[in-house]
Amino acid sequence: MLIRPRRNRKNAAIRAMVEETKLGTENLIYPMFLQDGKGIKKEIKSLPNNFRWSLDTLLPEIEECVKLGINQYVLFPAIEEALKDKIASHSYASDNFYLNVISTLKKEFPEIVLMSDVAMDPYSSDGHDGLVENGKILNDETLPILAKMAIAQAQAGIDIIGPSDMMDGRIGYLRESLDNDGYTDVSIMSYSAKYASAFYGPFRDALDSAPKAGDKKTYQMNPANRREAIIEAELDISEGADMLMVKPALCYLDVISMLKETYTVPITAYNVSGECAMVYAAAQNGWLNYEATMSEMLLSIRRAGADGILTYFAKDFARLVNK
Ligand code: PBG
Repeated sequence: MLIRPRRNRKNAAIRAMVEETKLGTENLIYPMFLQDGKGIKKEIKSLPNNFRWSLDTLLPEIEECVKLGINQYVLFPAIEEALKDKIASHSYASDNFYLNVISTLKKEFPEIVLMSDVAMDPYSSDGHDGLVENGKILNDETLPILAKMAIAQAQAGIDIIGPSDMMDGRIGYLRESLDNDGYTDVSIMSYSAKYASAFYGPFRDALDSAPKAGDKKTYQMNPANRREAIIEAELDISEGADMLMVKPALCYLDVISMLKETYTVPITAYNVSGECAMVYAAAQNGWLNYEATMSEMLLSIRRAGADGILTYFAKDFARLVNK
């Protein structure tokens, strides 16, 4: 035998030298759920190890995470049912606690990067990402609402907005609205290839944001489609997106890889709630080793081509590499 691939695996030093994929805390973006109030740290039933935080409990948590090397966070608000309406008006209300959390975090931790979610669902009495009329999700009528939400977040100091709503034309509309108001430095991380997935369940539990009627299949993509991701990606880039996202990550590694090879903008991937919940559940049953499986999962997403990974494992992974 002339060629014996095992020679390049014969000890830890050689394996480390020829390792193709590096994954560090700099690649991770930590999603956090927020709730108005005080002293709240409420575990999400279907997403163990993850919580709804109020501002006062969030601050020390972020401090701990920053020490572990996590510098990027994406924030999601859980909104009281009484504050929800058809037009998601609370999303840009000056007394929206979410906006206050953003500005407080930016003040307390100027070095961290904060990302938002731009979509109507947490604020909508219909639980949809867009405006609902007679059971239909209206596209163009949703855009000005998203823009008001994005401007309010920009005003509060958000670094990167993350439109996750999948309305057509929203990236261009949001870019122009931000620029017109002087927020030329606010970046857009577009949820470009966002699929109508069954893996969002625990997230919707966390925010009580499940659609009241119907599903999201008229705006989120069909999981069977790969080439359609190119249409979405191309539009988002031409409309001014700074980064693209593929969501979910694990069942869509082929899409991540395709976008990474096709485009030059950074690619992110969302290791969504259901993907993480599966690992938590199996680990709790003693069926899988938690640290080994979550690390392998994150590595696979990175190997597929993701520059950034949104993941509920962020803190545990950071702990692991800090060990
Ligand atoms: C809402 C939104 C969802 C997620 C992120 N933003 C759920 C949905 O589209 O219904 C899911 C994230 C996760 O499951 O971790 N626009």
